[in-house]
Amino acid sequence: MRKTVIAGNWKMFKDLKESEELLQGVKAQAASAPSSVTVVVCPPFTSLSLAGSLLKGSPVKLGAQNMSEHDEGAFTGEISWKMLKSTGCEYVILGHSERRQYYGETDAKINLKAKKALANGLLPIICVGETLKEREGGITEQIVTTQIKGVLDGISAPDMERVTIAYEPVWAIGTGKNATPAQAQEVHAQIRGLISKLFSKSLADKVVIQYGGSVKPDNAAELLAQTDIDGALVGGACLKADSFAGIFKSAKKK
Ligand code: PGA
Repeated sequence: MRKTVIAGNWKMFKDLKESEELLQGVKAQAASAPSSVTVVVCPPFTSLSLAGSLLKGSPVKLGAQNMSEHDEGAFTGEISWKMLKSTGCEYVILGHSERRQYYGETDAKINLKAKKALANGLLPIICVGETLKEREGGITEQIVTTQIKGVLDGISAPDMERVTIAYEPVWAIGTGKNATPAQAQEVHAQIRGLISKLFSKSLADKVVIQYGGSVKPDNAAELLAQTDIDGALVGGACLKADSFAGIFKSAKKK
């Protein structure tokens, strides 16, 4: 019933030439992706315009990795929703743990960005997740609950239908150590339960919740088979067309 959404977060990799090569590879592979899967690529800002042109007419969707909470103005180095839309972006990743950790993004700021994206027709992929210390301290659910409540504050039910949540345990990002399918499923079910409480069960049943953190072709199928895991946000393994395709082709219809 929910679509599987596999998004590739390129982070700060790939110049224009390298981007073109990867985009062509993903585009070719996506032609044989299962019909229940939506494939999204999120290149760096400098490659978005090129990606928008290369992906025109292809089923591969385009996303950005961040966005300003402002419309426009004297905000040196920032990128607005309007700029993103003009390149063909439909999605935008917000509140990635690297943005939280290195650039001080808070739930309140991520919430402003999410509202700005939704008000202007972009689909936010909002990231949440606990650190290793928090998991070991037994407070994963508490942390994720606080994050979800903060980032979704004031978002209406119709807007919530266009939000994707990415659960990304910080300790699993770029470490090669993924959460086990059972660990991930447990938190995904808690997130869906919370969305059900904050909005409604029927809405919670529609929301796509992705898992992220060391997703690879060889662990994707098992993760994606879990009841409440509706996709993946992929870092390292999306930088080669073959390994990214290995992930989106391993999603079975549920
Ligand atoms: P990873 O990154 O797949 O390299 O762990 C995931 C992410 O940061 O979204």
